[in-house]
Amino acid sequence: MRLDVLTLFPDFIDHSARIGVVGRARERGLIDIRCWNPRDYASGNYRRVDERPFGGGPGMLMMIEPLRACLAAARAAGVTAPVIHLSPQGERLTQATVRRLAALPRLLLLCGRYEGIDERLIAHEVDEEISIGDYVLSGGELGAAVLIDAIGRLQEGALNDADSARQDSFEDGLLDCPHYTRSESAGTAGVPAVLLSGDHAAIARWRRQQSLGRTWLRRPDLLARMSLDEADRSLLASYRRDWLAALAQPSAAGDGD
Ligand SMILES: C[S@@+](CC[C@H](N)C(=O)[O-])C[C@H]1O[C@@H](n2cnc3c(N)ncnc32)[C@H](O)[C@@H]1O
Repeated sequence: MRLDVLTLFPDFIDHSARIGVVGRARERGLIDIRCWNPRDYASGNYRRVDERPFGGGPGMLMMIEPLRACLAAARAAGVTAPVIHLSPQGERLTQATVRRLAALPRLLLLCGRYEGIDERLIAHEVDEEISIGDYVLSGGELGAAVLIDAIGRLQEGALNDADSARQDSFEDGLLDCPHYTRSESAGTAGVPAVLLSGDHAAIARWRRQQSLGRTWLRRPDLLARMSLDEADRSLLASYRRDWLAALAQPSAAGDGD
C-alpha cells in the first residue's frame, strides 16, 4: 500500500513509521510512505506557510497556496489517492474504518497545523475527514501516525501471525480477553486454571466469555450494538452472576477477570 502524507513535519512521520510492526512492514515493502512538505512549495524568502484568517480573531491558518501547489505536485507525480484530512471535526476513527482504509491501494493523508486549513481547500480537495478522538492536537501528524500504524499492521505479511489481528479488540465488536504469558519467575500463580487445562474447547469458551464480560463492564456501548446468540447470552449471564457474587463478597476486588 502506498501512503502519501502532506505535512510540515516529514521527519516526524518518517521516524514514527520506522519502528516495530510498521517499520518491518516498510522494510518488507508492504507499505511505502512518501511525504510532501507544503513549505517546499511556498514562495518568498521565508517560505511562509501560515496566514491570518479573514474576519480577524486569534491564531493563524495554513496558507492555501502552498497546500494547493503541494497537492498539485503530488498529483503531477501520479498520486491519485483519496485525500483524508486529519481533523478533530472528522468522523471518529474506529477499527472498522481502519479495515476499510487498509484495503485500499493508496491514501493521501493531509495534516493540518496552526488553527487548521482553509475551508475552501477542504471543500475541493478532501474526500474524508478523520478524527483520532475528541481532543485537539497541535497538528495532524500524530493522527497520521496513528492511521499509518493501524493500517500498516493490517497489511498482509506485516504481522508474523496474521490471525492475531483477528482476535484483537473491536474486530468482532468486543474487547479482547485477558492474556497471560509463560513466565519462569511468576510461574502459574494467578493464571486461570482453564488456560492450563489443555482443553481447547474450554479455553475458547472461557476466552469468549471474558471478551463478553469485559465488554459488558468496560464498553457497554459496544455490547449494545451487538445481537448476541443464545450461546453468547448464556456465557455473559454466567459471567455477570460470578461478577455480582464476587462483588457481594467483602474482599471483592478487580473487575471479575
Ligand atoms: C489546533 S488544530 C486545529 C483545530 C481546529 N481549529 C478546530 O477546533 O477544529 C491543528 C490541526 O491539528 C490536527 N488535529 C487536531 N486535533 C485532531 C484530532 N483529534 N484528530 C485528528 N487531527 C487533529 C488537524 O489536522 C488540525 O488542522
